[in-house]
Amino acid sequence: MKRDIKILIERLRNIGYLSSINASLEWDQETYLPKKALDLRAVCISEMSGLIHNKFINLDAGGLLTKLHKSATSNKIKGKDKILILETWREYERARKLPEGFVRELSKTLSISREVWAKARKNNDFKAFLPSLQKIVKLMQRKAEYLGYKETPYDALIEEFEPGLTTTEVERTLNELKEFLIPFLKKVLALQSKVNGKKLRGKFPLQEQAEINEYIARTIGFDFEAGRLDVSTHPCTIGVHPHDCRITTRYKVDDVLHALGSTIHEVGHGMYEQGLPSEHFGTPLGQSISLGMHESQSRMWENQIGKSYEFWRHFYPHLQKKFPEPFKKVSLKDFHQILNRVEPSLIRTEADEVTYNLHIIIRFEIEKDMIEGKIKLRDLPDIWNAKYKQYIGVNVPNDSMGVLQDVHWSGGLIGYFPTYTLGNLYAAQFYKTMNNEIKNIPKLIEKGEFGPIKKWLRKNIHIKGKMHTASDLVKKITGEKLNSRYFQEYLIEKYGK
Ligand code: CO
Repeated sequence: MKRDIKILIERLRNIGYLSSINASLEWDQETYLPKKALDLRAVCISEMSGLIHNKFINLDAGGLLTKLHKSATSNKIKGKDKILILETWREYERARKLPEGFVRELSKTLSISREVWAKARKNNDFKAFLPSLQKIVKLMQRKAEYLGYKETPYDALIEEFEPGLTTTEVERTLNELKEFLIPFLKKVLALQSKVNGKKLRGKFPLQEQAEINEYIARTIGFDFEAGRLDVSTHPCTIGVHPHDCRITTRYKVDDVLHALGSTIHEVGHGMYEQGLPSEHFGTPLGQSISLGMHESQSRMWENQIGKSYEFWRHFYPHLQKKFPEPFKKVSLKDFHQILNRVEPSLIRTEADEVTYNLHIIIRFEIEKDMIEGKIKLRDLPDIWNAKYKQYIGVNVPNDSMGVLQDVHWSGGLIGYFPTYTLGNLYAAQFYKTMNNEIKNIPKLIEKGEFGPIKKWLRKNIHIKGKMHTASDLVKKITGEKLNSRYFQEYLIEKYGK
């Protein structure tokens, strides 16, 4: 048995190396790849993905995985090895359930849809995207049938991003949050003092911006000997290996806060990747738990920490020194208020902490109805616009700024949106517990001592890999199930006074 486990780990590690190669190719594609090489790179990555997929299906060669799975379910194998086997089996089963012809059809449809969507968004033409979306939804419904589910086909799709979580649980949590957020938003808007956000505009040379972004990333704990910070159109984190994590940001010459927010967010993701146990590389024990758990790390650094008064008590003098114009004339208090300004808006990615989850709830409600066949896709713009009016209080002027704004659906990412909100909720719940366990976090932040926070996250979350599901880990760390109350309390404390 020991020998079989060793062989399985070798096979997984081998796949891990190929995935690292692919991740490096993707990073290069996002950052430095010459424009003319885009087509070639897409083919290379897709060939590589095929190779990885085949290797994954071949994990069972000689009946190895089947045999180990039997021993694990009958408790002949226990502990970490058992988890490694069961988790590998879960993913293997999912991969095996999808017929090859279906996978090919899906990947072909998606690669065309991305372009169709980009064009439709540019031309504000939902009708042009509609046939692609209809195809994708049908394929996703088929995918759910192949994979199987208990209550709704949406369950099968969420499982890919947030293993172990059911639609019913997500729905209950998001409804609870919605009931709180809609009236709370109105209250915050009435309370909020008027500070002019334009005060922070200026001219910020990119080189100087890069310096301060790197300085903050390093100070809060990103390890530059095991990672890089570069520029890309869409900020992202690509984990090649715990010793090699690539994060990216995006600079705007007139708005220094834009990049800082993205950088701190990606550093949160990056520290998770750097904190995974390298001795388990390639196996589930060396992988992050779920998208929601990943997002909890980025959101905690970006919001709970990176938008706190204490954080800027520490870093604001650095910012003022780097860019005396305009910051010498803006008090820390005003700066902090502008940074945390709540403003109902149309675009999800630009939303503040209070409205952000309403953007997600709208998407969740719509995509669940799409998959369950409860709405006609041609009515999507009307449904979208009505929800934006009702939940956030804004009028959507056109579909480009409305239902066409996100890339997700065109890429077949249905069941993905809820993980953003789950991340916010996990983050608030963890932060509360961390505050009870580490004394005086605000004081530490003010002094620029981020080590204890990083250490706590590493010990409780990063180093565990996939030892637990997200819901189990939340319970283990905080003593109770996922609960939106902590996030609500965080918002009330910060914005409700
Ligand atoms: Co993120």
